[in-house]
Amino acid sequence: MPSAYILGIESSCDETAAAVVRSGERLISNVVASQIATHQPYGGVVPELASREHLRAIVPVVRQALAEANQTYNSLDAIAVTQGPGLAGALLVGISYAKALAFALDKPLIAVNHLEGHIHAVLLEERQKGNHELQFPVLALVVSGGHTHLYLAARKNDSWTYENIGHTRDDAAGEAFDKVAKLIGLGYPGGPIIDRLAPHGDSSAVKFPPAQIKHRDRRERRGEKAVEIDRPRFDFSYSGIKTAVLRYVEVHQMRAAIELRSKALANILQPKLEDYLAASDRQTLDLVASFQRAMVEDLVGKTLAAARACDVATLFVTGGVAANSELRKTFEREGAQEGVPVYFPSRALSTDNAAMIAAAAYPKFLAKDFAAMDFSAEASLALR
Ligand code: KG4
Ligand code: ZN
Repeated sequence: MPSAYILGIESSCDETAAAVVRSGERLISNVVASQIATHQPYGGVVPELASREHLRAIVPVVRQALAEANQTYNSLDAIAVTQGPGLAGALLVGISYAKALAFALDKPLIAVNHLEGHIHAVLLEERQKGNHELQFPVLALVVSGGHTHLYLAARKNDSWTYENIGHTRDDAAGEAFDKVAKLIGLGYPGGPIIDRLAPHGDSSAVKFPPAQIKHRDRRERRGEKAVEIDRPRFDFSYSGIKTAVLRYVEVHQMRAAIELRSKALANILQPKLEDYLAASDRQTLDLVASFQRAMVEDLVGKTLAAARACDVATLFVTGGVAANSELRKTFEREGAQEGVPVYFPSRALSTDNAAMIAAAAYPKFLAKDFAAMDFSAEASLALR
């Protein structure tokens, strides 16, 4: 099979990214321009600002990805771009640019689902290590700022299909990390900050009750079948733990200290771990550690329950939250106890990037599954 050099473009949220991947198995270049500094003052992603920043960054980011890969526009075999899910305006920047490139260069254009990209980040990582053997069935937990999904993944020849067997009923796990960090004055994005602070607190100090999912899924209430075949669902819910943290803050009168922390950290351009530690008292560190422990226990517990019920042979854990150290350690330990190997992408490929988009595009390239020039962004694109 001849090598195919695919340029991936990703702009679904707050990273403008471009990468060149050879034949879905070799990362040649991977450029990510983060917009964290733009959104930080607002404590979350502002969609209009995200689109503006993508417009600014897309041309230099693609140029850099090509230069680092020693490729030219003409030497590429295909252009792949994220179609959704994500912010519509942000997605459109990447899509318009990818279409223009494909049209001008007369190259095939491939539309990729962002969530499929996260799953293929794991495959890319393993292929890079020379691991081409995979035991099926595969269960993939995609856990990020916008998503907490469980998919059973299957491969027929070169193409992949996915069955969703669980998703969050409210907040995504990464969103809970971000909201809790904002609530206790630690800034944005919360996941990486909480990850680094948690080992400094006592994770047994605050008890959070396990998430209760009492109501039926909205899709079920509308009379639609949530899944095509009759499987138990493994849904998540993270709005309760966020409210529990808020209640803890109120009951323990932490507001004044949070204000001070927030102001102190806002005055530091790029706060380091020492700055966060200096701004946090014991009670805050214990709260952070206990929150992370509860999140990790819930994610790992539900995923392993699903793995058992579906008798899966392999687990993938991917998406921004898969960068979390405690989550990785716990999955590795408990996966080993269950006899199920757990695979993660490297931390760089866990959070949003375009290498995963170029990797996910390769099976579509082989199948000549190309996008028509009139395809558009789909903010709520489902993965099947
Ligand atoms: O995959 P991603 O870059 O973007 C989305 O598709 O959403 O994920 C971003 C999310 C944010 O919520 C961020 O706080 C979280 O991933 N995150 C983490 C860590 N690094 C990023 N959460 C926990 N621990 C981390 N180390
Ligand atoms: Zn993502």
